[in-house]
Amino acid sequence: MPVSSLGLQLGLFMPNCSNMSAISTHRITEDEWDYESNKRIALAAEAAGFDFLFPVSRWRGFGGETDYLGTSLETMTWASALLAVTSRIRVYSTVHVPAFNPVVVAKMGATLDHIGKGRWGINLVSGWSKEEFGMMGLDILPHAERYQRTRSFIEILKGLWTLPPGSFNHESPWYRVTGGYSLPQPVQSPHPPIVNAGNSEDAREVIADHCDWAFMSMAGLDSARATVADIKGRATARGRRVQAACFPFVLWRDTRTEAEDEVARIIAHKDEVASGNWLRGLNLESGSFDRFTLDMLTLGAGAYPVIGTAEEVADQLGEIHSAGLDGVLMVFQAYHRDTLRFAREILPLLRARGIVGSHTNPAGAQDPSSKRGNSPCP
Ligand SMILES: Cc1cc2nc3c(=O)[nH]c(=O)nc-3n(C[C@H](O)[C@H](O)[C@H](O)COP(=O)(O)O)c2cc1C
Repeated sequence: MPVSSLGLQLGLFMPNCSNMSAISTHRITEDEWDYESNKRIALAAEAAGFDFLFPVSRWRGFGGETDYLGTSLETMTWASALLAVTSRIRVYSTVHVPAFNPVVVAKMGATLDHIGKGRWGINLVSGWSKEEFGMMGLDILPHAERYQRTRSFIEILKGLWTLPPGSFNHESPWYRVTGGYSLPQPVQSPHPPIVNAGNSEDAREVIADHCDWAFMSMAGLDSARATVADIKGRATARGRRVQAACFPFVLWRDTRTEAEDEVARIIAHKDEVASGNWLRGLNLESGSFDRFTLDMLTLGAGAYPVIGTAEEVADQLGEIHSAGLDGVLMVFQAYHRDTLRFAREILPLLRARGIVGSHTNPAGAQDPSSKRGNSPCP
C-alpha cells in the first residue's frame, strides 16, 4: 500500500482528563490530568518532535472507583495555556457543538490561533452523553439532526473565519447569524484545521464536505483501511482532501510477554462500574463502536491496542500507516515517562523505516511566525 509522502503524524491523546490511560485502578504513575503534568508532557512531546496534542472534552465523569474522566481541564483554556508555553507543536481543542455558540467559538478559536501563531486546530464533536447535556438542560438531538447542526456550526465558523467581516449570514433551525463579524480572523489560511471524530454515515458526510481530518476509532486493520478509503473517497468525489487518524493504546516492554502481562494487569483491575456507565452511554447514544472496541474499552477509551516490544510497536505503527492512516493520537500508560521512552526507543525505528517524516525532527521545525496552511499537521 502506498504511504503518505509526509509520513505518519504523531500525536498524543492527552491526559487532560483523569484516568485517561485506562478505566482501571492499576497505574504505575500518579494521575496526570493536572495542568503542570500536561505542560510537562507537552514540552516533552514538542522536544521529541511530535506533531500534535489532542484533548478529550468531558463535563462529568462516569462514576465507579476511578470516576473515569471525572476531573478534566476544559479544552479551549487548556489549549490557550499550552500554546503559550510551546512554539512548534500543534494543539487542538475539542468543542461540543450543543454547548457552545459558534460565533463565540469563532472568536475564541481565532484568539487561540493568534496565541499559537498558527498552531491551533478544532475537533467538533456532536455530543452523545445524556448525563452531560441533561446536566446543562440541553437535549440530545436525534443522530442525523445532531450532525446537521454540526454542519451548520462548521459553516458559521468558516464564514466568520474567511469572508469579509460583516458579510456572512446564516439561517438554520439552530442558528441565525446576521452580518457575521469576527476579527481577528485566524492566522492560518484559509482557516485552522477542522476535525470531526464521528464514524457514522452522518459524520462521514459532514467530514467529506467540510473537515480536514477524520479522527476515528478502529477495530482492526482491514476495517480501518475500508473506513479510511470510504471517507477519503467521499472527499475526493467533492474535490476535497481529508486525512485520517486513529487512537492507539501504545504499551511496550523489553519482551512481548512482559507487555502482555502489563495489559492483563490493567484489565484485571478494570473499574467495572465506570466501564459499565461509559458503555451504557455509548450503546444508547452512539451507533459506531463495534464489539471489539467495546471489549477493549478498558485501554484508553476504546483505543486500538499496539502492544509488544519497541520493534513490534514500530511494526504495528507502520501497518497502521500502510492502512491509509495519516496520523495517530497515542494513549500512553504513563504519559511523561512514555513520551521520553518513545523518543528514545521507538522514534529512531520509525525514522529508519521511513514511517515518520522529517517533520518529527525538531531540528526541521518550521518558523512558527510564518503564515501556515492547515496541512500537513493535524
Ligand atoms: C478520536 C476521538 C475523539 C473523540 N473525542 C470525544 C470527546 O472529546 N468528547 C465526546 O463527547 N466524544 C468524543 N468522541 C466521540 C465522537 O464524537 C462520536 O460520538 C463517536 O465517534 C461516535 O460516532 P458517531 O457520532 O458518528 O456515531 C471522540 C471519538 C473519537 C474517535
